[in-house]
Amino acid sequence: MTTADPKTLPDNDPNILAGKRLYEATCAACHGVRADGKGPEADGFVTPIRPVDLTDPDAIAMLDQGYVLWRIDAGGLEDPFHSAMPAWKDDFTETEKWQIVLYVYKNAGVSPKGKK
Ligand code: HEC
Repeated sequence: MTTADPKTLPDNDPNILAGKRLYEATCAACHGVRADGKGPEADGFVTPIRPVDLTDPDAIAMLDQGYVLWRIDAGGLEDPFHSAMPAWKDDFTETEKWQIVLYVYKNAGVSPKGKK
């Protein structure tokens, strides 16, 4: 397995589509199919913190890709978040995680912070 670098993993249709499938299978339950934070599981967490609206340009466009990748790895269980978001560190390859990251920005229609 090769380690994907965000700068070299092309922002092309196959990667975006792969990211979309992974997103829908793993993230949509909480963040919603449209990534608006309104997934079917969004209510009833043990913690009161709601899933983030990943379509809000003010939110997602302010985050850099490395942060989004790290949040997929770390989830929300750790300090300082203590939220219901699971950690996916061991569930995806680096390439799969970057595909999800690419999709999240594409879906929101924004460019990652610091990238054109
Ligand atoms: C069990 C529900 C759940 C699932 C599944 C889930 N999340 Fe989350 N996520 C949350 C919650 C709740 C928050 C808000 C609290 C926090 O920041 O931890 C959050 C926060 C985030 C943030 C931080 C946004 C910010 O502004 O700091 C990102 C990025 C994110 N999720 C991406 C994802 C991605 C990508 C997936 C799929 C791999 C995913 N989440 C799956 C519940 C979930």
